[in-house]
Amino acid sequence: MGRRTAPPPISWLMQAALSRPNLISLAAGFTDNASLPVAEARALLNEILRSPGSGRPALQYGVTAGDTTLRRLTARHLQRLDGVGAHDKNHSPERLLITSGSQQLLYMTVEALGNDGDIVLVEDPTYFVFLSILQSRGLRARAVRLERDGLDLAHLESVLQSLQRKGELLRVKLLYLVGYFQNPTGITTSFAKKCGIVSLLKKFERAAGHPIYLLEDAAYRGLRFAGKDVPSALAVRGAAERVIYAGTYSKPFATGARVGYGILPEPLFTTVLRIKGNHDFGTSNLLQQLTSRALASGAYNRHLTRLKKRYAHKARVMKQALQKHFPSAVEWWEPAGGIYFWARLPKNASTGVKSKIFQSALKNDVLYVPGELCYADDPTRRKPDHEMRISFGSASENDIREGIKRLGAVLRKLV
Ligand SMILES: Cc1ncc(COP(=O)(O)O)c(C=O)c1O
Repeated sequence: MGRRTAPPPISWLMQAALSRPNLISLAAGFTDNASLPVAEARALLNEILRSPGSGRPALQYGVTAGDTTLRRLTARHLQRLDGVGAHDKNHSPERLLITSGSQQLLYMTVEALGNDGDIVLVEDPTYFVFLSILQSRGLRARAVRLERDGLDLAHLESVLQSLQRKGELLRVKLLYLVGYFQNPTGITTSFAKKCGIVSLLKKFERAAGHPIYLLEDAAYRGLRFAGKDVPSALAVRGAAERVIYAGTYSKPFATGARVGYGILPEPLFTTVLRIKGNHDFGTSNLLQQLTSRALASGAYNRHLTRLKKRYAHKARVMKQALQKHFPSAVEWWEPAGGIYFWARLPKNASTGVKSKIFQSALKNDVLYVPGELCYADDPTRRKPDHEMRISFGSASENDIREGIKRLGAVLRKLV
């Protein structure tokens, strides 16, 4: 496993950023630095550490599943978002596990379900760190085409049929979906598509002979700045025992605290809890307490309201810069939340790490994530390499304007 665990695809991109002091990175998936809740976190930590009575439990080990209050508050938050009652089984705190970033939940789910050579269905393109998990654990990815409102259901069905014909359905364990403001394309899956996915997986699991789970990664759900929230797959009728939900407080609150969570049906909940026992037997108690107090005091909601305005503004700045500087041959998708725009060049243009466009962008001190890094190694199709992920998450407004101007100049010359 050690040998097949490759370096993360963007580690050298980040190194390139470090070695060029004037480089503007529109590549990083970091959150907005200027609005991290320093004062709020200081006040809450002071409260926690003010007396031995509240300080000691925060500085002591906790239980593997996580702080009871945080589990309850998180479950209630999800119940409200999904418009279900407090007794809905799918949203119960009993099924909710606090994790060290939602990344840990993604990893543990793959660890629990995947044997060597098993297959995970992924969106095409998808979150590249998830692809690294699959590669490291010896699993295969099969890519399902993406439309502007989520997976192409006809293609999902044909991929499942083709796996069935080849006798490989029994290797399919999971479908991984980044449901909100997807990393990297910024698109959000409609509720109708979630219903369609659940019913297709159910249809094929009869032939598979075991459950095929849907793992919905909702990392960016809280960061909507336009339109209305879409209920999660947990709210799909009949999805009860098949949906795993990964959420996080990293993106909407204190990114560096890395407090995440997952909802899992049995028997997966128990298995993943045991695996977490082996990983770390509990997420940092101090940081869970910080998060829990932020939720209970209203500091979390106040912060999120401000943060969403800030991202809405930065997205507008990026959109105006794209309109001004990108050639018309480049199509780009505007998100209603999250931190990413997705740009698509004509198919004959290449944005890959060895391409003229990428090298010229680097020479002109601007960095993006080449789209090819977000595509799984799926032998049934050619990997597209004419796209780019551009993020307004961590760059300042000025850097967004200047970065897009530099990138636009490169594209005008080379597209
Ligand atoms: C789609 C997606 N899922 C999960 C994560 C992990 O976030 P965290 O572990 O901080 O919750 C990220 C981080 O960038 C992400 O983009």
